[in-house]
Amino acid sequence: MTKLRIAVQKSGRLHDDSMKILNEIGISIDNGKDQLKASAKNFPLEVFYLRNGDIPQYLIDGVVDAAIIGENVLIEKGGAISIVEKLGFSSCKVSIAVPKSAKYSGVQDLEGKRIATSYPNTVKQFLEKHNINAHLHIINGSVEIAPNIGLADAIVDIVSSGSTLFKNGLKEVEVLLKSEAVLAVSPMISAKNKATLDKLQFRLQSVLLGRQ
Ligand code: PRP
Ligand code: MG
Repeated sequence: MTKLRIAVQKSGRLHDDSMKILNEIGISIDNGKDQLKASAKNFPLEVFYLRNGDIPQYLIDGVVDAAIIGENVLIEKGGAISIVEKLGFSSCKVSIAVPKSAKYSGVQDLEGKRIATSYPNTVKQFLEKHNINAHLHIINGSVEIAPNIGLADAIVDIVSSGSTLFKNGLKEVEVLLKSEAVLAVSPMISAKNKATLDKLQFRLQSVLLGRQ
């Protein structure tokens, strides 16, 4: 394999900024998101457009050499994936929220409660750490609706601007982790592709310095 294979979110909050930073480091990619794979014109690079949640496993298996991905997704999916560069965009938190009217004075109030989330491992870790037993409802999207439809007492999801919480009458009560977009590398990367990744990373560092 001679070209560096890098995964980028197919659609969602990281996609546009990921493509923008690649463009800023002088990598021009032919097409939009309709193709699942695209080659750079002027750099030995192939971009794979993938679903966020699938990317960690592709890195572990060496199907891709590197990825631009949210740190929160890497943490949720676990595995021995190294982060080589923090990219400074798509900052968010993974937080617990409850209805605005709910009484909340600390984690102990979650005991026995129903929590809806797309981040079950992150939530389980947090609950274990605090010795709390709660029931998890795993949902893939629109998690914030769960308390309003009687499915849960609390939710754990990404908070960025906070507008989704606000619109759904929820308040943030705990921050489980803070996250941003990162460049992550597969443990299976070849020496040749690692050398290409180093070049790409060097260019990224220059752009990031310029943004400060
Ligand atoms: C994401 C995330 C939160 C929201 C946070 O949802 O799941 O719900 O954005 O952003 P905010 O704090 O700026 O409102 P998204 O809109 O991507 O849809 P999904 O939950 O259906 O995946
Ligand atoms: Mg959402």
